[in-house]
Parts: sequence; structure tokens; C-alpha cells
Amino acid sequence: MARVRTAVLISGRGSNLSALLAAARDPAYPAEVALVLSNRPEAAGLRFAAAAGVPAIVIDHRRYPTKADFEADIQAALDSAKVEIVCLAGFMRLLSDSFVARWRDRMINIHPSLLPAFRGLDTHQRALEAGVRIHGATVHFVRPEVDSGPIIAQVAVPVLSGDDAETLAARVLAAEHRLYPQALALVARKVARVVGERVLVDAEAPDLGGRSLLVPDPSA
Ligand code: GRF
Repeated sequence: MARVRTAVLISGRGSNLSALLAAARDPAYPAEVALVLSNRPEAAGLRFAAAAGVPAIVIDHRRYPTKADFEADIQAALDSAKVEIVCLAGFMRLLSDSFVARWRDRMINIHPSLLPAFRGLDTHQRALEAGVRIHGATVHFVRPEVDSGPIIAQVAVPVLSGDDAETLAARVLAAEHRLYPQALALVARKVARVVGERVLVDAEAPDLGGRSLLVPDPSA
């Protein structure tokens, strides 16, 4: 079966991109990374695309007079690579409502909290300040409102006594790297469907039994 052509949009480190590329190395994985796009030429994550032999382009927002011009070039790049699904992975530009609408239910994002808690930045510090015992990460379909949209999959991690934002971030990030490939697989296999702004996972979804959206920690 043809693998779903996927673009990964990054702005920086690219560790989630690396996790997606690793998953897609398996020919049985339902998505292939057809394009990596960064809005920053200095994004460290671009090296993962080069190492994997995946086409990568830089579309530097600073070179565009308007967001519409910037997004027009992103769209052109996605079109020419025949991209079917867009994964935001640490992409730090807000996308316009019209771009989001165009990719509705075909664009997903990973956020380092258990949404709807802790939308926005500094999620780990805010989780510590709130005193939550369980923190985590979420993959969701993108909607115009930042860090909102139908939830595809979540992973929970414990907050341990003695954690600071850095240790907690590292634990969450390791979980993100397991979560994102699984969530993309659900979307690529079309077993995760948006119904009334919630995601239903079909019963035949492999590994997840159609119910559990919690990704277990294999080291636990
Ligand atoms: C991740 O924590 C992701 O959840 C958030 O931005 C960070 C990106 O990290 N959206 P990386 O570039 O994938 O290493």
C-alpha cells in the first residue's frame, strides 16, 4: 500500500522529526517523510533530514513581507512534494486561519502537556507550579486557536519530587518521541477520524485495541 506522504515542519532542535524519520525507516510504517520544512535556516533539526536523505527546504519567514506570502510559499512546497499530511514538530510560527482551514484534519501538532491543560509556552514550569502529579504530551489536529483541536493521542508521565523544568521536560520529550510516531500512524492509516471535534479511533486500529489512547512507557 502506498505510504502517506507527510511533511514535517520544524523551527529548531528537531528531535520529534528524528523520531518520525526513525519510525518511517520501517517500510511497514504507513507514512513516509516526503519533505522537511524549516522556517529557520539555522534549525539544528535540518541535519536529521540530510542524514535520512529526505528533501529539506528553508522558508524563512523573515524574508517575507506578509504572513500570506510566507504561507503561499509553504503551500507551494507542500503541493510540489504532493504532501497529504502535515506534522508540526516544534514549528514556532502561528499559522493563519485560512492555512489551518486548508489543512483541516490533515495537519497535526505535538504539544508538551496533557491538553487542554497548559496551552502555550513554558508548560513544564507551569505544571510544576500547579503541583500536578501527572504531566505529559498530546498530539492533536490543528485548529485556528493555538494548542487546541481534536486530541488524537496522549502520553502521561509522572512528576517526581525533585523535578525541575529541565528534568521534567526531558522525561516528557522521551515520551513525545514514542507518542508522535504512533499518532501519525493512526492518522495515516485513517483509523483516527474526527467526529464532532473529537477523535474516534476505529476498533481495528492495531496495537491500540481501538480504545486506549495512552501510550505505555516500555521502560516502566
Ligand atoms: C517539543 O517539546 C514539542 O512538543 C513542542 O516543541 C518541542 C519541539 O522539540 N511543540 P523538537 O524540536 O522536536 O526537539
